[in-house]
Amino acid sequence: MIEALVPPHEEIELDLLLEAIWRHYQYDFRGYARGSLHRRVERACQRFGCASFSALQHRLLREPPLFAELMGFLTIQVSEMFRDPAYFRALREQVVPHLRTWPSLKVWIAGCANGEEFYSLAILFREEGLEDRTIFYCTDISPAALAKAEAGIFDLERVPQFTENHRLSGGRSSLSDYYMAAYGGAVFDKSLRARAVFAEHSLATDQVFAEVQLVSSRNVLIYFDRELQDRALGLFGESLVRGGFLGLGARETLRFSRCSEGFADFDAGERIYRRNTADLVMADA
Ligand SMILES: C[S@@+](CC[C@H](N)C(=O)[O-])C[C@H]1O[C@@H](n2cnc3c(N)ncnc32)[C@H](O)[C@@H]1O
Repeated sequence: MIEALVPPHEEIELDLLLEAIWRHYQYDFRGYARGSLHRRVERACQRFGCASFSALQHRLLREPPLFAELMGFLTIQVSEMFRDPAYFRALREQVVPHLRTWPSLKVWIAGCANGEEFYSLAILFREEGLEDRTIFYCTDISPAALAKAEAGIFDLERVPQFTENHRLSGGRSSLSDYYMAAYGGAVFDKSLRARAVFAEHSLATDQVFAEVQLVSSRNVLIYFDRELQDRALGLFGESLVRGGFLGLGARETLRFSRCSEGFADFDAGERIYRRNTADLVMADA
C-alpha cells in the first residue's frame, strides 16, 4: 500500500504523544507500525474532537478515563473462531500428534483479543483428548478484551461463520455442543475455561513467564515494526521448549527475522514453525 506523506510536524507530535502515553500510562506503542498507528490516532482525534495530536496529548495527560477509550483505537480486536480454518486443521492433523508425546502441555495465546482464538484451541484440544493435560495462558495488553475473553459471550450473528470455520478445521463435533444461546448471545461453556489463565501481558515491555509447548500468536505482529516483531519473536523463542511449536497469522512470517535461526519451517504455508532442538540462537546474539 502507498502511504500518504505525513507532514514532519505530525511525525514529531505522534512521537511525543506515544512518549507521553508510555511515561504516564506505561503502555508502549512506540514500536508499532507507523502507518496504521497514525491512521488510528487520527480517528481518535476526530472522535475526541482534538484538532491535533498535541491537543490529544494535552488531554490524555489530564484525563485518565480518556486513555481507556483511546486503547480501543490503538488496539484492534478483529477476530473469528477458527479464523483461517486451514491453520487449525494443520494444528489438529500435524502438530497434535507431536503434542501428544508430552505428558503435560502449556499453550500461550499471545494477543488473544476477545478470546476467539482461545476458545478455538480449547475446543480443538478437547476434541483431540488433550484438554486435561493442558494449561492455556491467554494474554493481551487490552484489559477490556481480556474481560470479554473471560466472559466467553459472542454475538449470535457471528456463530454461523464460527460453525463453518470449525467444520472446515476438521471439527469432530458440532460447535453447538459448546455454547448455549442466552442473553442475546452465544455463551460458551465455562468448562472450556477451567484450564485457562487470562492475564495482561505486553509483548513490547514484559518478559517470558512460562515454558510452553505451543505459542499461537496470530495477527499481532502485523501491528509491530521490525524491531518490535523481533522482540516478540525472541520472547516466543525463549518461552518454547525445544521442539515446541509457534503459529503465526497468515500475513506474518519468521523469515527475515533475527530469530529465524532458532526455528525450522514446520508448515510454512500455515505459518507454523518448530523451535530447533539444538541451542536457540537468541535475538540479541
Ligand atoms: C487482531 S487481534 C488478534 C486476535 C487473534 N489473535 C486472531 O488472530 O484472531 C490483535 C490483538 O493484539 C493485541 N495486542 C496489541 N499489542 C499488543 C502487545 N504489545 N502485547 C500483547 N498483545 C497486544 C491487541 O490488544 C489485540 O487484542
